[in-house]
Amino acid sequence: LVEVRELYRNKDQYIGKRISVGGWIRSVRDSKTFGFIVLHDGTCFNTLQVVYHDKLDNFVEISKLNVGSAIIVTGELVATPQAKQPFEIQADQVVVEGYSTPEYPLQKKRHSLEYLRTITHLRPRTNTFQAVFRVRSLISYAIHKFFQERNFIYVHTPIITGSDAEGAGEMFRVTTLDLENIPKTEEGKVDTSYDFFGKETNLTVSGQLNGETYAMAFKNIYTFGPTFRAENSNTTRHAAEFWMIEPEIAFADLKDNMELAEDMLKYIINYVLEHAPEEMNFFNQFVDKGLLDRLKLVATSDFGHITYTEAIEILEKNNDKFEYKAFWGCDLQTEHERYLTEQVFNKPVFVTDYPKDIKAFYMKLNEDNKTVAAMDLLVPGIGEIIGGSQREDDYDKLLKRIDEMGLKREDYEFYLDLRRYGSVRHAGFGLGFERCVMYLTGMGNIRDVIPFPRTVNHCDL
Ligand code: 4AD
Ligand code: MG
Repeated sequence: LVEVRELYRNKDQYIGKRISVGGWIRSVRDSKTFGFIVLHDGTCFNTLQVVYHDKLDNFVEISKLNVGSAIIVTGELVATPQAKQPFEIQADQVVVEGYSTPEYPLQKKRHSLEYLRTITHLRPRTNTFQAVFRVRSLISYAIHKFFQERNFIYVHTPIITGSDAEGAGEMFRVTTLDLENIPKTEEGKVDTSYDFFGKETNLTVSGQLNGETYAMAFKNIYTFGPTFRAENSNTTRHAAEFWMIEPEIAFADLKDNMELAEDMLKYIINYVLEHAPEEMNFFNQFVDKGLLDRLKLVATSDFGHITYTEAIEILEKNNDKFEYKAFWGCDLQTEHERYLTEQVFNKPVFVTDYPKDIKAFYMKLNEDNKTVAAMDLLVPGIGEIIGGSQREDDYDKLLKRIDEMGLKREDYEFYLDLRRYGSVRHAGFGLGFERCVMYLTGMGNIRDVIPFPRTVNHCDL
């Protein structure tokens, strides 16, 4: 079988030749003596037009095929310079591999994204999701390519962990204990020493702390894997299971970190614009008008920079526009983030130096003793897409933060060791992979860029 993608790439090799193509029927149109089938084989965004005639002994059967049926077509590929598509196949044989039924949910009409969410197993057959998941795959490849070209080591950090990397307590517990007969301690608490690992464990919220240990051995590393957060926020940009890319660089500070993040995002944008032009045009036309121009501009201009304190000054002056009033010390809400990046900068912007009390324990304390060397990258349409920081590399200061935040020292001994044995300046960040896919495709809901999304009250398939 020849792939449709191959036909589009090297059409001159196939015009005039007899070939076979297998795919699923998008539509059938027939008249008395001939008909047309639009065939999609999944190898590219384009479809193949099939022309068939009543010379075929199964002509009547073919004309009655339902949308979604799988067929193998054999015939000559003929150039059609006048038509919308550059060629069509004139079938001399059509073999039905699998029939579909008239109830097939994806009839030839526009379906809402909400409806398609109810059939996550079939939606990848639609144009929108073909484009989304092809681009998702490309972005993930581009990310690996970017880091590998820079000699970063890809580290597989564990999914089951015994510590809380963010110290935010938003974890999914992992347990083998029988819920109905959970052993209790004398104080009546769950006795986790009976559990599989002999202690309490959870799904990872971030691979960062493990990643840092490898950065202290390899200098530059990155992780790229699934992470889990039991945040009870039902928004268009939060998922309970999402993928994160976490580079960690040694002998580097916050500025180096921001440069890396900016280079990475530009590299990904350029890669996708170059390698998925059909899909990107589709998004530009049907999902988010202006997407292409915007991305091209982002790829060629400098990102904005502002400190948290400066940002708060701007936001406070505009507090009448916000549901949640901004003040120094508050965590930036999505409405604030979007105001800064959409109204003030109109491009991606790094917000730096947040108050220590709203950030994680591992961030490096600034000299003012109030703020930390943190950076979030905000982008129009989404808000935060990256969160990162320079790390506290001073043993005593780190220990103090662990205590102040009420974390258990013994959980972080390995992390403190990194500060005991050859501690160096280092920094890193986490890119939310799905938010990156949303940003590049213009899709407005995180549920539509994850093959099988997990959100509050939803864990289907
Ligand atoms: O800002 P966060 O929480 O940072 C960390 O986890 C650090 N350990 C990263 C690091 O410095 N190595 O998360 C990083 C990014 C966010 O900016 C966001 O894009 C994404 O992960 N993210 C989510 N994406 C989807 N659903 C959620 N519930 C997310 N929570 C965070
Ligand atoms: Mg964050």
